Amino acid sequence: MRKVLITGATGLLGRALMRIFNENGFDVIGTGFSRAQSPIVKLDLTQHKTVTQFLNETKPDIIIHAAAERKPDVCENNHVHTKALNLSVTEHLSQEAARLNAQFFFISTDYVFDGKTPPYTETDTLNPLNFYGETKAQGEQIVLNTCKTHTVIRVPVLYGQVETLSESAITVIAHQVKQRSNNAHDNWAIRYPTHVDDIALTLVDLCQVTNTNIGGIFHVSDNQAYTKYQIACIAAKQLEIDETTLSPINEPSQVASRPHNCALQDRRLKQLNICHSRPFEQAFIACVQPLLTH
Ligand SMILES: NC(=O)c1ccc[n+]([C@@H]2O[C@H](COP(=O)([O-])OP(=O)(O)OC[C@H]3O[C@@H](n4cnc5c(N)ncnc54)[C@H](OP(=O)(O)O)[C@@H]3O)[C@@H](O)[C@H]2O)c1
Repeated sequence: MRKVLITGATGLLGRALMRIFNENGFDVIGTGFSRAQSPIVKLDLTQHKTVTQFLNETKPDIIIHAAAERKPDVCENNHVHTKALNLSVTEHLSQEAARLNAQFFFISTDYVFDGKTPPYTETDTLNPLNFYGETKAQGEQIVLNTCKTHTVIRVPVLYGQVETLSESAITVIAHQVKQRSNNAHDNWAIRYPTHVDDIALTLVDLCQVTNTNIGGIFHVSDNQAYTKYQIACIAAKQLEIDETTLSPINEPSQVASRPHNCALQDRRLKQLNICHSRPFEQAFIACVQPLLTH
């Protein structure tokens, strides 16, 4: 049984990875930080010596590095913390994976692109607009330079089973609509919300392909396009709130610059016949409904 180590196992994507890798017969170890509770191991990834010791003890065959600071506004306001987690930790884990001869997957983002010329292929030129995207782009380079079988997985905005509606940039919209705390929603940025279970299922498949097909960059993205305003309208319908009380914001509106449209083309996955997708509207409602009734 292959042993997979998942960092960020307490996070939105990490929890799905833990569940789906377990269901698919892997020996799974997860690490988290502030939310870690047994069986998830509490491990501050910025403590490199402790991490090396942990890796020597656990000897994973596969490392999926999903831990990151991923909130663009937090990254913009705290460069030191963001560099430590998104760059130094990534470099250390990437080198350690090479030393242990473990397969390494680094979760990156569509924010490495500027969003001006979609759709983007795996080999298109990067031009991040904010500090979060910059650290992820640099992290990718470090990973790719470390070992030719190390793999970068670029994903767009994620949603799935959330602990609170505010956990994901997609599910928080339902919360805002319900609370009527925000009636105006971005209608400028085009997003491709992707369910974390589909990312996890894709990674399971990638762990089964031969070594010659792995390494380099993979795009993993659903292709259903929505603005936050359109998602707010779906939530309003579900909550039986009059849609006309919502208003679209038709120009960029956030602190850290966001790209307009980073549609990711998943050419390499298509070549491998790997495709996991689900209808957005039903999946979104299934994620938010249990938390909307409280
Ligand atoms: N969410 C999105 O929409 C989105 C979009 C594009 C790309 N991504 C990328 O996808 C990956 C997963 O994102 P996510 O949404 O699942 O993130 P998340 O929910 O914010 O989770 C972040 C994870 O990092 C862990 N962490 C933070 N500081 C740590 C430290 N010092 N040591 C060890 N672990 C630490 C957290 O642990 P605790 O919570 O236990 O402290 C948590 O498990 C990230 O690489 C992110 O950049 C996410």
